[in-house]
Amino acid sequence: MSAAKVRKAVFPAAGLGTRFLPATKALPKEMLPVVDKPIIQYGVEEALHSGIRNIVIVTGRGKSAIEDHFDVGFELEHVLTSRNKAELLSQARQVSNLADVAYIRQKEPLGLGHAVSRAQELVGQEPFAVVLPDDVIDSATPCLRQLIDVYEFFNAPVLAVMEVPKESISSYGCIDAESVSYNGSTDHVFRIRDLVEKPKPGEAPSNLAIIGRYILTPDVFDCIGKVEPGAGGEIQLTDALRLLLRRRPIYAVKFEGKRYDAGDKLGFLQATVELALKHEALGGAFRAYLKGLDLG
Ligand code: G1P
Repeated sequence: MSAAKVRKAVFPAAGLGTRFLPATKALPKEMLPVVDKPIIQYGVEEALHSGIRNIVIVTGRGKSAIEDHFDVGFELEHVLTSRNKAELLSQARQVSNLADVAYIRQKEPLGLGHAVSRAQELVGQEPFAVVLPDDVIDSATPCLRQLIDVYEFFNAPVLAVMEVPKESISSYGCIDAESVSYNGSTDHVFRIRDLVEKPKPGEAPSNLAIIGRYILTPDVFDCIGKVEPGAGGEIQLTDALRLLLRRRPIYAVKFEGKRYDAGDKLGFLQATVELALKHEALGGAFRAYLKGLDLG
């Protein structure tokens, strides 16, 4: 049977952003701008460029700026129209024209698995993507598209992974996996044997870390409902996937591209510098400016 089309993407965005205080005291971390777009817009554009139209954002208290961002800025558009600022108007409109966005609240911070389960009604009985907005991924083919291609081939859930230094694996979900043949190569697609959330250093089965992009099937919701609180006392998505693995194969893709953890201060700075250097309008001037800095 051919795989059902992935049409929806779930964005868990209810986290408190404690790694980015004090900036995130009154501003959702998803709205911090990397160059000229809020962090979450990178993930939304990646989903759209991967063929997904329906976006579900799981929000919480204090996150209304996200809803305003993807809405029509009526007053702004009115002022820009009356001042004949066509270019600025199209930039403002582009955001609200991007996608159909639905919102659901996660009322308590009970973990990533719990956040994803809040989207169950909106997702229904379809395969869906999960995008963790903190992870900004710059790649030639959108990361989600890379995962969807593998999902369509195997008709099975697929996770994005990357190699990380052994000493940092305990910040991530980690997979134990064997490589499989895909598109004539055996170096970037894996069948998962086991997975564990934030293993202790020394207990990690590999250095392959789960990154915030997933293609999941609706049977994961039943598994989320069955897991007990895990790492950090939270309902973990990784634990639910471990349960799902008993019922069906799950695959992983070492994606092509560069991932930035934009929810972390250093990762955010790295994303800002590298994406600014690639920016069509700003890149040249920014490069010249950086070259003039005395970094000695
Ligand atoms: C979450 C997931 C973890 C994954 C990570 C990627 O953890 O639980 O498995 O490796 O995202 O960014 P968090 O960073 O929310 O603690």
